[in-house]
Amino acid sequence: PYTLCRSVTGAKMEVEAGGSMLQALRALGAKVDASCEGGICGACEVRWLEGEPIHRDRVLSPDRRRTHLMACVAQCGSARLVVEA
Ligand code: FES
Repeated sequence: PYTLCRSVTGAKMEVEAGGSMLQALRALGAKVDASCEGGICGACEVRWLEGEPIHRDRVLSPDRRRTHLMACVAQCGSARLVVEA
């Protein structure tokens, strides 16, 4: 589990290990697009600011992963993840 924080509003919530970051962001009021929900279309891209995302998508380049994640499939390897959403 980890704490997901929105930098825009400061809202946060606990996300279970294996839980959907996309659903958690929406539950926190973030408007995040999605289409494939399988890490291949690129629709759910979110910028992250702090923490250690675990990328499971197949669209982001290594460079892009340093600043962005795909919320439909990403997990988190740190206790806290802050996203710009
Ligand atoms: Fe397609 Fe996330 S919804 S990559």
